[in-house]
Amino acid sequence: MKILLLGSGGREHALAWKLAQSPLCSTLFIAPGNAGTSGCGVNVNLSPLDFEAVGKFCVAESIGMVVVGPEEPLVRGIVDFFAADRALRNIPVIGPSASGARLEGSKAFSKQFMDRHHIPTAGYREFNSSNYAEGIGYLQQHSLPIVLKADGLAAGKGVMICQNHVEAVAEFELMLQGHKFGEAGNTVVVEEFLTGIELSVFVLTDGRHFLTLPPAKDYKRVGEGDKGPNTGGMGAVSPVPFADAVFMDKITQRIIIPTINGLLAEKIDYKGFVFIGVIKVGEDPYVIEYNCRLGDPETEVVMPRLKNDLVELFTAVTEQRLNEWEIETDHRTACTIVAVSGGYPGSYEKGLPITGLDQPLTGDTLIFHAGTRAEKDAILTNGGRVLCVTSFAETVYEAVDKSRDVLDKIDYDGIYYRRDIGYEFL
Ligand code: AMP
Ligand code: GLY
Repeated sequence: MKILLLGSGGREHALAWKLAQSPLCSTLFIAPGNAGTSGCGVNVNLSPLDFEAVGKFCVAESIGMVVVGPEEPLVRGIVDFFAADRALRNIPVIGPSASGARLEGSKAFSKQFMDRHHIPTAGYREFNSSNYAEGIGYLQQHSLPIVLKADGLAAGKGVMICQNHVEAVAEFELMLQGHKFGEAGNTVVVEEFLTGIELSVFVLTDGRHFLTLPPAKDYKRVGEGDKGPNTGGMGAVSPVPFADAVFMDKITQRIIIPTINGLLAEKIDYKGFVFIGVIKVGEDPYVIEYNCRLGDPETEVVMPRLKNDLVELFTAVTEQRLNEWEIETDHRTACTIVAVSGGYPGSYEKGLPITGLDQPLTGDTLIFHAGTRAEKDAILTNGGRVLCVTSFAETVYEAVDKSRDVLDKIDYDGIYYRRDIGYEFL
């Protein structure tokens, strides 16, 4: 079967690496891909948001399955677009319909969904221009800190954690009246702040059954010791030491099962990944957010640990036979460290040559590209997160050490990476 994977980040390189290993995959295309994905298949210069062009390519190449990496095509309805087109409707797409992708695309929808299905999450209220004044009053009596969330997709920047009431009211005003996040901020969710430690849980569902992939922990802040601004993610580890069997069972019973049953009960077509951002408060799990895709850089540790054939699992998803499978994982710890451009998550340069990518690697280390592109014989930086190095070892300490060793031999102008990924588990 020919497979088309949409996206161009580190997540997609890890997915491409995994898909290409399947004997069921005859040719893998990645659109648009990066300098790393071209080692796993054929990069195609197509935008994942140009559904017409993606559809034409699928027909021309007799694609047998489309795998969607990022959220935006899903939220904009790529699954529905395929389902509505006579030439495309028989090509399975791994990812939810637009109505399912609202779990990520609308914070208000996801909070209401959790309410309806009694899924533990922070208490909240929703505000828009019609109850703006009431919102100001609500904020002024709210306990601190206050979490404000733009309802729609805001490129990972839509969550503000405000330490005082003045700041909260100012942010609220900026979102609702200043249109700071455009339409995405026309509704604002005001939420209680939860204190605890976070982990990322990945569920693959066929709309009826589900399988839980190994959980991971990501490191969102740019600086060591979790300081500085939020980023897309600076590193990840899997397994997560505090996510023991007892805690994972609470997540399954209280969160995963009600989520899958809730989607089914609401007749929401969902064949793909549910990424549940969970926070452990005391001994109890709460949902911080849902995403309708895999995480980045979590995928770069989850895919290497997954022993199953991913194409076999995806085929089972499309045929609603996921109950016939079990997830098999490598028992070792995987750690990934992300190298970013100087200045990230603020402004940064692109087009800088990368050296050290051709160093010999041991069998338990992998380099995944993110923001890179090939030009003649060189590989150049092409984004904020440039690449990541994943290593396997028996302990977090050794895995981090191996990745750091490889990164120390990679260079480009302004390269930066955190040396302390996994620090709380060392
Ligand atoms: P998001 O952009 O939705 O991934 O949220 C960004 C980060 O904000 C999360 O990873 C959490 O660290 C934090 N966050 C979001 N909601 C809450 C909450 N209710 N309590 C504490 N932290 C939160
Ligand atoms: N690493 C978090 C995310 O992918 O949203």
